[in-house]
Amino acid sequence: MYTEIEIKSLIEKALISTITLKSPVELYEPVLYSISVGGKRIRPVLCLLCYNLFKDTINNNIIMPAIGIEVFHGFTLIHDDIMDNAEIRRSSATVHKKWSKNTAILSGDAMCMEAYRLISQTNASHLPQVFEVFNKTAVQVCEGQQFDINFENKFLISEADYLTMINLKTAAMIAASAKIGAIVAEASISDCESLYQFGYNLGMAFQIQDDLLDTYGNPSLFGKTIGGDIVSNKKTFLLVSALIRAQGQQMTNLENLLKANDIPNNEKIKKIKEIFDELEIKQLADSKINNYFKTAMEYLDKINVTQYRKENIIRFINDLIDRNY
Ligand code: IPE
Ligand code: IPE
Ligand code: MG
Ligand code: MG
Ligand code: MG
Repeated sequence: MYTEIEIKSLIEKALISTITLKSPVELYEPVLYSISVGGKRIRPVLCLLCYNLFKDTINNNIIMPAIGIEVFHGFTLIHDDIMDNAEIRRSSATVHKKWSKNTAILSGDAMCMEAYRLISQTNASHLPQVFEVFNKTAVQVCEGQQFDINFENKFLISEADYLTMINLKTAAMIAASAKIGAIVAEASISDCESLYQFGYNLGMAFQIQDDLLDTYGNPSLFGKTIGGDIVSNKKTFLLVSALIRAQGQQMTNLENLLKANDIPNNEKIKKIKEIFDELEIKQLADSKINNYFKTAMEYLDKINVTQYRKENIIRFINDLIDRNY
């Protein structure tokens, strides 16, 4: 069995040898930049770990779809940064800030197509199933992103609407990564489904953690601008929960802060964070995250392989639970 470190190194090697600087460099330089400035690689790592639950040897049949998923993820981030007007990603300038919006759109598009080319390099007999999962998920990401943008201008979002949005924009792709690993490993239908549910719960926890870190994270570790979600009125788990909990003067203050367009960003971040603190939103988020991780573990328990084979994946989840970047 492969450790997470060995798996990460396989992924980095495959990415480096696949994503090269071609002509026109104006198109490919941002692609190479986006892939080489880092990233946690959690989707391809999860895909390979899930494959490795059932099959001993990791080969290109699973490495290529796994890095295809990572390249697709990179594409969604480049476009997401335009949509969120983000300046920093992976501790480096975002593509649309370093180059231009047009460059970010086109280089992102090229990565999307490249992702499909990479994913298709698996055993032909698994392709229909792999693409059925992947195509459905790729559209879900767009749906989730649209809800995310719609919600910026909607005042009251229910927790259920928020959870649907993060399922679509984030959890679905993490679930698909796990399931694709299982499909290529020829796992049983029920194990494929359990791994999808495992990935879904992991993904929900992961996005709520991302929301939490966007406000409470360590700026030097997180790699993105702290408070960016607050500035753009993102309906994160924190804000959705605060709007559900706030009452009286607190609600009026929150409402005014969300409507104000003459308040400096730092001030807005500080004041909204104070309201989150008063309402103990961080504790609420922590408990929600833990519940999703717990459910993920329950789905992993159901997988029909020995406990020994699950050890690396359990270690990977424990690292995710503790993540602060
Ligand atoms: C960022 O994804 C977008 C979210 C779903 C929160 P990651 O946190 O996996 O980003 P990288 O790839 O590690 O930079
Ligand atoms: C982006 O969600 C989800 C996608 C990958 C499409 P966020 O907007 O929260 O991601 P970050 O915080 O910019 O990484
Ligand atoms: Mg976004
Ligand atoms: Mg964003
Ligand atoms: Mg975020």
